[in-house]
Amino acid sequence: MTHAPIVDLSVHHKPADLSDRIAFGFTKLLRFCADTFFAKRYGHRAIVLETVAAVPGMVGATINHLKCLRRMCDDQGWIRTLMEEAENERMHLMTFIEVAKPTLFERLVILGVQWVFYLAFFALYLISAKTAHRVVGYFEEEAVISYTLYLKEIDEGRSPNLPAPAIARHYWKLPADAMLRDVVLVVRADEAHHRDVNHGFANELAGQPAATALAPYPEHASDIRMAA
Ligand SMILES: [Fe+2]
Ligand SMILES: [Fe+2]
Repeated sequence: MTHAPIVDLSVHHKPADLSDRIAFGFTKLLRFCADTFFAKRYGHRAIVLETVAAVPGMVGATINHLKCLRRMCDDQGWIRTLMEEAENERMHLMTFIEVAKPTLFERLVILGVQWVFYLAFFALYLISAKTAHRVVGYFEEEAVISYTLYLKEIDEGRSPNLPAPAIARHYWKLPADAMLRDVVLVVRADEAHHRDVNHGFANELAGQPAATALAPYPEHASDIRMAA
């Protein structure tokens, strides 16, 4: 039995202008690097990429917060949404760290990538918030694909379907007998939701209707810290 909402895996924002094409090209370049580096080591891939995925929400929240202070205007709910996204991505990381352990080399990659990516994304957001959200929308499209491939690895017996880590059972309110497969399903649903939120934000910033319904967001524990 699965507790994950059903999500549309085929959603793709067709690049509509130069900014979209840059965002899409950049995402595909990073996808190629990730595929080359990790191949099918999905647990390790998830850990390293989730340390990156948790950055944009916090950058977007910070910059919007500062903008709203300067302009003394309402944020239309963006700041909380982006902070929640960052927290959610960090919970993905805390979950997968229970499943795989990063190598020393991967830890060094994480350190280097965080410096470069944080600064680069911050600069991009200042220059073009629309492109920044489009980049995240495309990242999340790729995340949905990667977790779908991870599910295939589990279903075809190439990756073990371990019991779900306790932190994941708590955060996604999963039953005691939940397995890793159930966790990957809810993580993928989170990514699909972020995908639609960020493409929607990019649309809004481009003066288009945010449009499309959001992929349903799984239910999360309001208190992310587990009782001792
Ligand atoms: Fe994630
Ligand atoms: Fe994500």
